[in-house]
Formats: sequence, C-alpha cells, structure tokens
Amino acid sequence: MADNPGASYWNWLAPRYARMTLRDEAAYARSLALCATHVSGRDVLELGAGTGTTALRLAPQSRSYLATDYAARMISIAAERLAVDPVPQLRLQQADAAGLVGRGEQFDTVLAFNMLHLLPDLDGTLRVIRQMLKPGGVFISKTVCLRDAPPLIRLALPVLRLVRIAPWMRALSEADLRASIVSAGFEIRQLEYHASGARDFRPVIVALRH
Ligand SMILES: C[S@@+](CC[C@H](N)C(=O)[O-])C[C@H]1O[C@@H](n2cnc3c(N)ncnc32)[C@H](O)[C@@H]1O
Repeated sequence: MADNPGASYWNWLAPRYARMTLRDEAAYARSLALCATHVSGRDVLELGAGTGTTALRLAPQSRSYLATDYAARMISIAAERLAVDPVPQLRLQQADAAGLVGRGEQFDTVLAFNMLHLLPDLDGTLRVIRQMLKPGGVFISKTVCLRDAPPLIRLALPVLRLVRIAPWMRALSEADLRASIVSAGFEIRQLEYHASGARDFRPVIVALRH
C-alpha cells in the first residue's frame, strides 16, 4: 500500500509511541471492559490500531480480530510485539480506514480508539465503517473532543503541532461527534467517560448499525 501523506507524522512517532506509558490505567481498563462483551466470540475490526496495545489485549477473546493502521511503522511494531506474544485470532494490516470498503469482509464489531478526531473526512469514514459492519453490528469509539477540553489545552495545541508533539486534529465537541455518528446511520446505545480524575473530554461511544 502506498503511504498516505497523513501517515508520515505517525510513522515518525511510532517508536516513541510504542514506549509511551498509559497515563490512566484505570480508565483504559474501563474502556476495555466495555468492549469485552462486543469482542467476545465476534469478528472484530480495529481502525487506527497503532502499535497494537489494544489488539493484543482484546484479540484473545475474539473469534477473529483484524487490526489496521495506515502508518506502516505502527503496524511493523505491532507485528514485532505479536511475534513475541502470538495470538492466533489476530491479523495486522496496513490500511487507511477511509479505503476499507469493497474487500468483501464484514465484521460484528468495529473499534476506533483515539483516531476519529484525526480524520480529514470524518463523515465519509463513518459511512465506510457502517458498511464494514454486519447489520446489527456495533461501532465503539473513544475520541478526543477538543472543543470540550480545558482552554489551556486548546491554546497550546498550535504550538504543540509546530514542534510535532501533536498532530493535526479536528476540533470536535461531543455533540458534533454524536450528530456525525447518528447521521452516518447509527443509533447511539451508550456514552460514557472513563477518566479517573481530571475533566474528561474523550467520550466512549457504543453505536449500533441500523
Ligand atoms: C493517537 S494514535 C491511537 C493508536 C491506538 N488506537 C491507541 O489508542 O493507542 C492514532 C492512530 O491512528 C492512525 N490513523 C490516523 N488516521 C488514520 C486513518 N485514516 N486510517 C488508519 N489509521 C489512521 C495513526 O497512524 C495512529 O496510529
């Protein structure tokens, strides 16, 4: 697959991303627990899977698990980790979320952690996600909603982008995100915030494909 120009930031960041430690283990555990019933015994597709942390944790419960990311370096690090810790259900593939349709494969569950805010065409990609799901399938996302973030974070972002600490991201609010998910043909079944302490601006949304 030719590299999407948007992937260059993530290819550059990948080795550092792999070394980053989770800032809020309890929040992550809550998000994984919410996913568990929708992953157990199901065919799962993960978008923007990064270095495979979530895939390696959830795939053992699934029937099959395809973890994708458009950054080749992210996928190669995930492959190195999978080689150390093999999970028979887990396949890794470099793929742009926007270009997944037409592969003749459909899934029970699609997961997208920390990636919807990075999409240049959010509405178009949500329609692709809907097509990747079997009828009655479930889409679970956890997404940075920058508009709901404390003002200091919003003000710092242009500087962080300049020094490549942060990528380009869409300034979503929770309300924007809910509206986009619904207009792509989903019904929102659950919306939760999982952070332990500070103000949380990453809603976890469980949406059912109509
Ligand atoms: C913030 S990281 C999140 C990684 C992982 N989901 C996690 O929560 O740790 C965002 C990931 O999304 C990927 N990504 C961004 N846009 C994408 C797209 N259009 N298609 C596939 N992957 C994408 C990036 O390469 C990166 O690995």
